[in-house]
Amino acid sequence: MLRILCWLLLTLLSAAALGGWFLQQQYEARSADYRILYREITVKLSQHDAIIPLLPASQHVADVQHILPQIVRWRQHEQTENRAPIVAAGGGRYWLNSAHLSILIDLPILLETLGEKKTFAHLAITEQATTLFSQGNADTWWRWDKSVASPTQPFVVSAGDNPQWAALPWWLIVSPALFWALVIGLLIQFQTNKRRRDSAALRARYNELIRLNTLGELAAGMMHELNQPLAAIMNYNNAALRLIKQDNPAQVPMLLEAAIAQIKRIDALLSQFRQKLTAEHPEYQPIDLQQLWLRVCKLLDNELDAGKVRVSSAIASDLPPFMAPPLWIEQILHNMVSNAVQAQTGNPYSAWIHLEVRQEKQNLVLTLTDGGTGLSPEALKQVFMPFFTTRAAGLGLGMALTDTLVQRLHGTIEACNVAGAGACFTLHFPPQREEAQ
Ligand SMILES: Nc1ncnc2c1ncn2[C@@H]1O[C@H](COP(=O)(O)OP(=O)(O)O)[C@@H](O)[C@H]1O
Ligand SMILES: [Mg+2]
Repeated sequence: MLRILCWLLLTLLSAAALGGWFLQQQYEARSADYRILYREITVKLSQHDAIIPLLPASQHVADVQHILPQIVRWRQHEQTENRAPIVAAGGGRYWLNSAHLSILIDLPILLETLGEKKTFAHLAITEQATTLFSQGNADTWWRWDKSVASPTQPFVVSAGDNPQWAALPWWLIVSPALFWALVIGLLIQFQTNKRRRDSAALRARYNELIRLNTLGELAAGMMHELNQPLAAIMNYNNAALRLIKQDNPAQVPMLLEAAIAQIKRIDALLSQFRQKLTAEHPEYQPIDLQQLWLRVCKLLDNELDAGKVRVSSAIASDLPPFMAPPLWIEQILHNMVSNAVQAQTGNPYSAWIHLEVRQEKQNLVLTLTDGGTGLSPEALKQVFMPFFTTRAAGLGLGMALTDTLVQRLHGTIEACNVAGAGACFTLHFPPQREEAQ
């Protein structure tokens, strides 16, 4: 959920940033258009000032209008009158008055002659409060205003326009959705891999620990076994030395032979230990689960009795052949059953454990359910982690070891809670287990 929200937020932010940038580009382009239009209008208006002194002499109206078609008409004045310099005449026309001459200018025609055509959604030319020319709807997204620096025609040229939504590169604007999905996907993948790696490292450390423990035990056993022959050799040698010093060597060969015999025994013990160390290949045998289950129950007789636990089983009779080291399967069941007993110590008479063994497709499936309170949410996640325990006296190695053994048999183990019951462990063993090691 959080990941989807993150993705949505990042996508929206990126799309907004990209969209804003493209809109800004459109705005810059339109601003440039406006500047060209403004410049062209300024040039045209300045031409009016330039032509006024020349017009009275001109007799060729057609020629003038050919060059400046926006000058519709002009009128000469005999005497100086007091006129406003600009007088609106309606329909986009205005009179430009000087002392002796008035010219009528048509703004629509003037705009027609421009290179930059009126491509704006709104275009207006105003003189103070009077609108001389207006075209389009003034309600636009963008707006530009600038006054013309002309002494006689100080108009304000206003333009307005809207963004061209359809022209925006939408596929590019929404592309961050894909990009962020990819980034978040990769992040999730990385996290999952890391978690898997961490858990694998932890298990490897645990296995190493077990190996060291075993080595420790072996070393202790070895010291115990070697102690006696070494002490004997020491005695024989001391005795032999004493006899030689007393010049009585007759018994010395016998003593040395006894010492040699002890040394040979040490040698035999060492090779036995060596064998134990290197005998890493456990013996695979056909497993009779019914029998093994009875054996485990027997081994845990005291605990089951003390907790008044009812034990039941449903073991299918036509199971596929199952090859494994019997001690491993015994250890797996032993660990799970003792946990189930421990989980139900508080409720005698209502405590129960049920084992079900069946064949599913080609797999052998074992399910062990109990009547306890089930696994806590944390235990559900970490039950197979070494040293995870919720019990004060627990070590947290039982289920980790079980998991290791199941994996070595190429099987899988899953933990869950069952409604109306407690914890449930399901083990799947694939066929062809002979090559397990
Ligand atoms: N049948 C079960 N019911 C409830 N909790 C269980 C059961 N089996 C295992 N657990 C939980 O998993 C934890 C780890 O079990 P385990 O590895 O055997 O270590 P330990 O028995 O030393 O605590 C237990 O402390 C317990 O919280
Ligand atoms: Mg345990």
